[in-house]
Order: sequence, then structure tokens, then C-alpha cells
Amino acid sequence: MPALVLLGAQWGDEGKGKATDLLGGSVDYVVRYQGGNNAGHTVVVGDQKYALHLLPSGILSPGCTPVIGNGVVVDPAVLLSELSGLNDRGVDTSKLLISGNAHLITPYHTTVDKVTERFLGKRKIGTTGRGIGPTYADKINRVGIRVQDLYDESILEQKVEAALDFKNQILAKLYNRRAIEAGQIVEELLGYAEQIKPYVADTTLILNNAIDEGKVVLFEGGQGTLLDVDHGTYPFVTSSNPTAGGACTGAGVGPTKISRVIGILKAYTTRVGAGPFPTELFDKDGEALRTIGGERGVTTGRDRRCGWFDAVIARYATRVNGLTDFFLTKLDVLTGWEQIPVCVAYEIDGKRVEELPYSQSDFHHAKPIYEMLPGWSEDITKAKTFSDLPKNAQAYVKALEEMSGAPISAIGVGPGRTETIEINSFLS
Ligand code: GDP
Ligand code: IMO
Ligand code: MG
Repeated sequence: MPALVLLGAQWGDEGKGKATDLLGGSVDYVVRYQGGNNAGHTVVVGDQKYALHLLPSGILSPGCTPVIGNGVVVDPAVLLSELSGLNDRGVDTSKLLISGNAHLITPYHTTVDKVTERFLGKRKIGTTGRGIGPTYADKINRVGIRVQDLYDESILEQKVEAALDFKNQILAKLYNRRAIEAGQIVEELLGYAEQIKPYVADTTLILNNAIDEGKVVLFEGGQGTLLDVDHGTYPFVTSSNPTAGGACTGAGVGPTKISRVIGILKAYTTRVGAGPFPTELFDKDGEALRTIGGERGVTTGRDRRCGWFDAVIARYATRVNGLTDFFLTKLDVLTGWEQIPVCVAYEIDGKRVEELPYSQSDFHHAKPIYEMLPGWSEDITKAKTFSDLPKNAQAYVKALEEMSGAPISAIGVGPGRTETIEINSFLS
């Protein structure tokens, strides 16, 4: 069981941080493979709550080596402040490894992110404003700055100048902003170089060796399947590939090495930012899910949009990720509803549709077709085994499993590490 991928099966915030942390004690490496500090992963250990943005959730497990892979975009200021915040709380971060090929988010990327959103007006994506899109755009345009560039001053200068030559034209002429001076950016980046240096490593070599030696490596996705730039609700997506294939490109590990792909699936649905969301609720049920589920963004503090469980999306996540298992989270939040609607298919222009339509226009018109499942009122937060759950909660889980196309191997019944029902071990 050497390599597993753990990723979001919906629009992010499914509870990936908790799930990764839960496994972290039994794995040797936890690897972020895409995204950056747009992620907000909450981990609750005892009475301590941690909000991680850039660092892999495995950083909280002492035996585990956390890795930032080549596919991640790294804001060096955020990296250092997140590390020192954890150090202040007594967490040992010295094992961290960072790929020299990861791209850097610089102040001009965050500036371009924010002004672009403003320029888009009501067509905006609702990004986290962390410079993610512009940094990936530079990577693809081959004008990005990589972690390794911090250690060759003249290359760094040339690359920052090349990137800013073009960007300053846009900032000044299109957005009416002051040009950014290359020298200042170079100076700021060089200021981080020595502090970051001890962590920089050839992570693809280390990870491939580890897998060959039988070590357990867990790839932790940020965001979720429907935010994937290829497979999500484009253009209302992030600019990377959170789906399973992203783990290969974002960490330099071949698909033949990956043995298990776990989709983290919330027992209902949430989304932050703009874009289609068929089961979204605008009534008191939506408000109740938001309040009971604590559905407020970890990164931007925005209220999350809330809706019922959508089995069409879960099936799609199974398909595009090749999921072997689901980890169903936040089942406890649904306690107290007499009946729980579950979206089993869509109605699009008068026709019943069972699979996610590839056409965005169709998806925008999709109306959920609901099946009503009986609810439960008993407190389930202390449940340790599946049979501890009330019959109707068991039936809800079984119904979701059948509709979603992969076994539910764990169930979250509370935010804490121990508030989990394990059905099949992920590590056997
Ligand atoms: P991530 O981005 O996927 O890591 O998820 P977030 O941390 O942004 O949001 C998930 C929220 O749900 C966090 O506040 C977690 O502490 C919380 N959480 C995770 N699993 C459970 C669960 O099973 N029950 C409850 N009530 N909360 C959970
Ligand atoms: P975790 O890892 C939920 C959303 C933003 C926006 C879109 C693009 O905590 O699940 P970006 O800044 O990435 O260019 O924004 O993606 N988004 C997330 N939504 N959870 C996240 O991360 C997200 N990261 C980005 O709200 O709609
Ligand atoms: Mg989150």
C-alpha cells in the first residue's frame, strides 16, 4: 500500500485536512501536489485547532515528512509565517521538504489577481485573491519564477525583469496602476532565500525512492474535483488540477505507483465563490446547514454557499478520479432533519439526466431531482462503529454509497481526530 491520493470530491472544504491528519500518524510522507495558500485545511487535535493554508496537513504528525511538490505555487512570505506560527505552538516543522521546481507567488501575482477580479466586475470568479491564477498563468507562459531561482541572483533578476516588462504594461495601461519595480521584488525574494534553503530538495527523487522502499506516501489535494481547471465548472474553477492525475504531474510520481484514491465527500454540498451549484439552498435549510456545519471559509472568511447532497457530482468524482473509496464527512451536521433530500439526477430542458453534462450551458440549467430519505434525531458524535449509528443514518450512508459508485470507508461524525468511524482501513 505505498501511495494513496486523498482529494476533494466536490467544491473543496470537504474535510480533507482532518482526513489527512487522521492518516498522518501512519504514513511516512504527506505531499501537497497543487494549489497554494488558497487552501484552508482545518485540523482539530484535542482542544487545539489549526488552520493550514500552504503546508501539508501531515506537518502535525511527528513521524511524518511533509512535502510541497513541484505542482504547488508557494508564496514565500506565507510559507515563513505559517512555519513560524506552528513553531510558536510547539510544532516541529524541521522535516519539511520543498521542491526546487515549485513556482513562487510574488507580490505582482497577488496584485494582478485582485485587479483582474475587479476588472471582471459581475463576471468575477470570486478568487481567494492569493495570486494563484496569475502564478499558474506565468508558469504556463514560461515566465514564472521557481524556488530554485532564489539561489542564482542574476537568473532571478533576469526572470523578474522579463515577467514585469509585460505585466507593467498591462498594470499601467489597462488597469491604471503604478508599475512594479523589478529591483524591489528581487530584493524581497532574496530576503527569503536563506530561510527557505534548508527545506529545498529534489522531492521527486525522494518520493520515488520512498515508494520503492515500501514507505507509505499520501498525496493531499487542495480544493476539489469541481474546481479542477480541466474537469471542474470552468471558468469558475481554480487554476490547477486537484483531481487524481494532478498528483502524478504535481509530485513527479507515475500513475503505476498509485494504489488508492480516496475522495473526501461532505454529507451535503458547499461552495465558495461564483459558479453553478444545482442543489444550492436559499432558504432556512441552507442557513441551518451553514450555521450547524460552521460553513465559513478558512482562508477568506466568506460564508460558504450550502445545499443538499448531489449524487450526480459524487458519481462524476468517482469517474474522473478513479476513486477507490470515499470518506464521508460531517454526517453529524444532518442530525435533526425529519427528511433529507438527496439529488439523484438533474432535469435539464425537460429531460432527466443521470450524469454531469459536459456542456456548461446545460449545467447552468440543471434542476435537481430529489429523493427524500428519512432523517434521525439521535446524537451521533460519539458513534465509533457503523452499527452505533441510528438505522436511518445507516440507510442514508448506504444510499449515498450506492448512488456514488465507490465504497464509503470512513465516516466523520465530528471535527476532532477521533470523531471518525472507520469501516475499511485505508492502509491495508
Ligand atoms: P478542507 O479544506 O477540505 O480541509 O476542509 P475545511 O477545513 O475548509 O472545512 C471543513 C470543516 O469541517 C472544518 O471546520 C473541519 O474541522 C470540519 N469537519 C471535518 N470533518 C468533520 C465532521 O465529520 N463533522 C463536523 N461537524 N465537522 C467536520
Ligand atoms: P480547500 O483546499 C473552497 C475557490 C475560490 C474561487 C475559485 C478560484 O480549502 O478546499 P483561486 O483563488 O483558487 O483562483 O479561486 O476556487 N477556491 C476554494 N473553494 N476551498 C478551497 O480550498 C478553495 N480554493 C479555491 O473560492 O471560487
Ligand atoms: Mg478548506
